[in-house]
Amino acid sequence: MSGRLEGRLIGLGVTGSIAAYKAVELLRLLTAEGADVVVLLSPSAARFIGPLSFAALSRHPVETEVLDLLPDGRIGHIVIADSADALVVAPATAHFLGAMANGMASDAVIATCLATSAPVVVAPAMDGDMWSHPATVANVARLREAFGYVVVPPASGPLASGQSGQGRLAELARIVDAVVEAVAGRPIRQPAATARPPLADAPPREADLAGRRIVITAGGTREPIDPVRFIGNRSTGKMGVALADAALARGARVTLIAAAVEVPLPPPGAGTEVVRVETAAQLRDALSTAMLERDGRPADALVMAAAVADFAPSRMAPTKLSRGEGLTLELSPTPDLLAEVAARARVAVPAAGRRPFLVGFAAEAGSLDRAAGKLAAKGLDLLVANDVSEAGSGFGTDTNRVTILDAAGGRDELPLLTKREVADRILDRVAAALDERDAGVQTGGSTSDGRGPAGTATPASPRRAAR
Ligand SMILES: Cc1cc2nc3c(=O)[nH]c(=O)nc-3n(C[C@H](O)[C@H](O)[C@H](O)COP(=O)(O)O)c2cc1C
Repeated sequence: MSGRLEGRLIGLGVTGSIAAYKAVELLRLLTAEGADVVVLLSPSAARFIGPLSFAALSRHPVETEVLDLLPDGRIGHIVIADSADALVVAPATAHFLGAMANGMASDAVIATCLATSAPVVVAPAMDGDMWSHPATVANVARLREAFGYVVVPPASGPLASGQSGQGRLAELARIVDAVVEAVAGRPIRQPAATARPPLADAPPREADLAGRRIVITAGGTREPIDPVRFIGNRSTGKMGVALADAALARGARVTLIAAAVEVPLPPPGAGTEVVRVETAAQLRDALSTAMLERDGRPADALVMAAAVADFAPSRMAPTKLSRGEGLTLELSPTPDLLAEVAARARVAVPAAGRRPFLVGFAAEAGSLDRAAGKLAAKGLDLLVANDVSEAGSGFGTDTNRVTILDAAGGRDELPLLTKREVADRILDRVAAALDERDAGVQTGGSTSDGRGPAGTATPASPRRAAR
């Protein structure tokens, strides 16, 4: 279901009120409406509530210091000011209203409001006498009338001071509605993830793939037309290399089969084997070898992130073709490598029942409707589908928004994440499934296809116990 703020970036400014804790719930409500939210804290707000909850829920680092630069050198409050569809300051203190009314860019919240051309929604919260003070009344009027800000007035009721009056932060649903109204009818200002504030780094995972052998393919194949020309694709290998880096960090032995890539590969070393290939045919050979037993164990999992050509020239010209009247190429379909591996695994389930866990990727343009069919047709355990026509998703980007489909019909729609975080989310599933598989093998519970019975992950799993 898409929310009323789908695709929007909202800057949430929090200032030093006792109601600052309510901003965590406001953040949750905004994200539930589909918004990408980045949080700014005034120095006082950071004393009421620390940045950790905001960072974890927003998946963005929190902007607390107006003078700190982003890790990539950009100026944080300007990036937010230029890319947010709206700013909402909630709770807004009396001090914020006064400083804002006078353009005092003393902290990240006010500096961002000053620097933006996006709509600004302000929800004040304070003691009743502060709210009714002529200074506050004048400041609110200036924000409304001179700046065009939407002010969601505080509600009446018991206040933190123990008194009663008008000053309580408005109902959060009213603040969300005001943000929705403020952006209605406006185009998304900055759909490209690269122009938005950076995403926070993924939390480190435990070494839950120690002792596992994972085969990962990355990059795009190149199918030669003649000795100097080829048919290629836009894959840069970022997703596959992120998977390899993440699997290595989690203790796996990794065979990375890399076609054409534009990112540095992990250095070969203990636990890392890198095999370079160019064509779909070479990738097929490398895959057959990598999936075979090593030290008595076949590969535990294959994650097929490479973009393999669906068609290749039927013949490669032995010498460089010269410019002539024109050229007609005859293309032949290449074999479906993942379906081949899946079919082989089904026929030759190793004696121990340790069938490799198979993960495919499907790059779709537009709808992901065909993805479930692909998962079943190829006999995969997981299919990671993404809409490569969406900004910030697909080839060459550092981020990806994917939907993970599983063989049991499950569908997990992930938000926009860094490719490293997408890699870790996929590997979370791989690690859990392998533990479940081995628990099934140990208890004699593997099914005829070598897959452990669903829901049998038990604490008695020998790997878990040994860890
Ligand atoms: C416990 C406590 C609660 C406070 N609550 C509020 C409040 O709800 N609204 C407000 O305007 N100021 C409140 N203040 C005062 C502000 O924190 C203070 O004016 C501060 O300078 C605001 O800074 P900021 O606007 O940069 O965040 C409170 C102070 C304390 C000690």
